[in-house]
Amino acid sequence: MAEAFTMNGGDGLQHVFRGKSDKQISLIGILQRAGSNAAKETMREVIFEKLDVRSPTSASNTFRIADMGCSVGPNTLFSMQTVQESIENKYPSQGFPPLDLEFQVFFNDLTSNDFNTLFASFPPNKGYFAVGVPGSFYSRLFPASSLHFVHSSFALQWLSKVPEQLLDKNSLAWNKGRIHYTSASGKVANAYTSQFENDIDDFLNARAKEVVAGGMMVLITLGRPDGTHHSKLPLCLLLDALGSSLMDMAKAMELTAPMSKTDVPVGPQDMVIHLRAGIEGMLAKHFGNDIIEELFERTSQKSAEISYALEIQLFVDLKRQ
Ligand SMILES: C[S@@+](CC[C@H](N)C(=O)[O-])C[C@H]1O[C@@H](n2cnc3c(N)ncnc32)[C@H](O)[C@@H]1O
Repeated sequence: MAEAFTMNGGDGLQHVFRGKSDKQISLIGILQRAGSNAAKETMREVIFEKLDVRSPTSASNTFRIADMGCSVGPNTLFSMQTVQESIENKYPSQGFPPLDLEFQVFFNDLTSNDFNTLFASFPPNKGYFAVGVPGSFYSRLFPASSLHFVHSSFALQWLSKVPEQLLDKNSLAWNKGRIHYTSASGKVANAYTSQFENDIDDFLNARAKEVVAGGMMVLITLGRPDGTHHSKLPLCLLLDALGSSLMDMAKAMELTAPMSKTDVPVGPQDMVIHLRAGIEGMLAKHFGNDIIEELFERTSQKSAEISYALEIQLFVDLKRQ
């Protein structure tokens, strides 16, 4: 599962964008960046107020930052720039002399992530030493007490695996005919919740060992407004439309049979394209590439009425004692 989750890389994005106008492509970029932009000011504030690493180590002036689940860019580059600038400005803005720091940024994602696309997009004057770190952030990735700042945006919603009960025909949480919990029983939603609890525990335990005392972690992830049931959330409705399209196709044909290729329709469903950039790899691995075009065309049609007004994000900042 962890390996199936990677976002579309260089060629993959071209594939998703094929047939789209420049306006639509830039709208997708704007959607992806909107969440990070919203968090930018808050991130500056927490770094100014809470980060407490005046001298990274007695032996070195290297400040180490890690982005967990960086994908292929460009959001990770904007986020790392914000973190670096905020740290550089922190002490002068508080009346102290600037720290003489060198920055090292670790870009982490799963081994199947297209790191080459990310590396090729680095700006020439990025101002830090860059390192790619392949592997799951649910396990240890760095030596003990080696990181000063950890950032992760819109990645922790990816679980490490499908909760086992969902695949067990004898379980009350067997998720027959669905790919998600939107319209499923409470037992299915509980199975996802338990898996998330285990995963976030593993994530926090690993980072607790890797972050130095006084260092910080900022986690940005999807959330839902208080009092709103998950079945009302736009992303959940979109996943329901995707699951329902899969079921329609499963009833209409052999999923593994080759299908004739059709052009990607140019429609108003930019959120569907956004979703596709995120999960096409996982679906293609499970069902094969041949169904992808038709699947997302059907999902566009089924999700035309969804309102995205309820979308919110959570911003969590944690300081290592
Ligand atoms: C939606 S993208 C977010 C990209 C970027 N952080 C942003 O804010 O635009 C989620 C990324 O998390 C990565 N990811 C998912 N599970 C992971 C894991 N266990 N370890 C490392 N990366 C993971 C995926 O491969 C994907 O690139």
